[in-house]
Amino acid sequence: MKHLLARKSIESLQLEADRSGMQRSLGATHLLLLGIGCILGAGIYVMTGNAAAHFAGPAVMLSFILAGAACALTALCYAELASTMPVSGSAYTYCYAAVGEVFAWVVGWVLLFDYGIAASLLAVGFSGYLVSLLHDLGVHIPVTLAQPMFNVTGVHGGALVATGGANLIAVAIILLITAVLVRGVTQSAFFNNLLVAVKILVLVSFVVVGAGAIDPGNWTPFIPPNEGGFAFGWQGVVRAASILFFAYIGFETVSTAACEARNPQRDLPIGILGSLLVCTLLYIIVAAVLTGIVPFRALGVPDPIAIAADRMGRPSFAVLIKIGALTGLTSVLLVNAYGQSRVAFAMGRDRLLPPLFSDLHARFRTPHGGIILFGVLSAAIAALFPLSLLGDLISIGAGLAFSTVCVCLMWLRSARPDLPRPFRVPFGGFHIGRVWIGYVPLAAIILCWSMIVPVVIDIVSQAANGHVTPAVIVGVYFGAGALLYTFYGHRRATRA
Ligand code: ALA
Repeated sequence: MKHLLARKSIESLQLEADRSGMQRSLGATHLLLLGIGCILGAGIYVMTGNAAAHFAGPAVMLSFILAGAACALTALCYAELASTMPVSGSAYTYCYAAVGEVFAWVVGWVLLFDYGIAASLLAVGFSGYLVSLLHDLGVHIPVTLAQPMFNVTGVHGGALVATGGANLIAVAIILLITAVLVRGVTQSAFFNNLLVAVKILVLVSFVVVGAGAIDPGNWTPFIPPNEGGFAFGWQGVVRAASILFFAYIGFETVSTAACEARNPQRDLPIGILGSLLVCTLLYIIVAAVLTGIVPFRALGVPDPIAIAADRMGRPSFAVLIKIGALTGLTSVLLVNAYGQSRVAFAMGRDRLLPPLFSDLHARFRTPHGGIILFGVLSAAIAALFPLSLLGDLISIGAGLAFSTVCVCLMWLRSARPDLPRPFRVPFGGFHIGRVWIGYVPLAAIILCWSMIVPVVIDIVSQAANGHVTPAVIVGVYFGAGALLYTFYGHRRATRA
């Protein structure tokens, strides 16, 4: 029991960070662009269509606000923890320092799952846009190479049926990214800024050109009447928010740059909150134009913005949009896989995972074993399953990881009020006994759980109807994790 709750001392983490030798060279603008670079990807280019077509209709704009609010409150908590512990490993490391080993392990395991499924989803989106772009250029890819091996029969979950295809294009892009990561990438600030510029420019030009093609009739009814379950109505708006939660993942990456920031106290909150704000505004405006051009029921495809561009009747512009989408998806795919390998590396270094994940390649100095294993798993999932199923699984993981970070924050405030905290979450809180409850972390937890609960209800009710695939994926992954921790990590962890 003592070991389950073993913690890393914050002082040793701070010392590690001080000795990291990293240059404090990043300013507020760098951090802002880093955040946008990690955030803008499949969420807007791919998931918006699915969320509008099956759950929220034009009110997908409200869903973006709801999911954005959950992330903004969580982001404040990340900013405080990052300013107190400017270390790598993100939520996993915060948990190890605040609440102890077993919680850190669970969060690490959840993060690996999330990053892995996100890679599959991004790759499926990439495949959708690539096929569409090649089609415009006169190259016709057989449909069987870009569809999942299994599809769900109903839009709100159902039996899995074999399609006779396999998404080999998604497999190819994941394997390519895996190879690049094994080789090692030094993602220069210049390269990141360039990708961010392309991503934003494409979305802004979509809005500017698309505004003229809007038919306001497509926005009525704004919240389509509920058709049962989570299909439309307010229930649908909340359910769509839980899907679009995915669109904001990435803001937490800014917190990992804490030891490279020139003035973390001022610049980290600007980077984290600023990137969220820019993305939320862009998302709402793009969603407005998208649902204004295409009737929402036609948006349930992997490349909704391409569909809208096609409808505008400007073929050359559609090509530009698709190139922008592919750029955005590739850059997030790269950062996402990089984040995954870094969490696995931190867990391997603490000996909670086998050395496969922390051993460095002799020549490239990258944790190649973990990168390759995760690459192969994500590729297999991308080949097999459709978008709708993947998105749900990610929302559960993100909600869990985010709410644990909020708990860590309150725990640390209660247990170590003495620590220097260059940035503090605003609006204070109250005490219950010796435990400090902050208004911001509490509200963040409630909102995060309001993203998770509809997905869990959906998965459980699907299982009750005999459609057990999502429940089986979650059960097998966490069952395997529990065994790995009990028989491996728990026995071998290095407890400093
Ligand atoms: N937020 C990232 C995306 O939308 C994960 O692709």
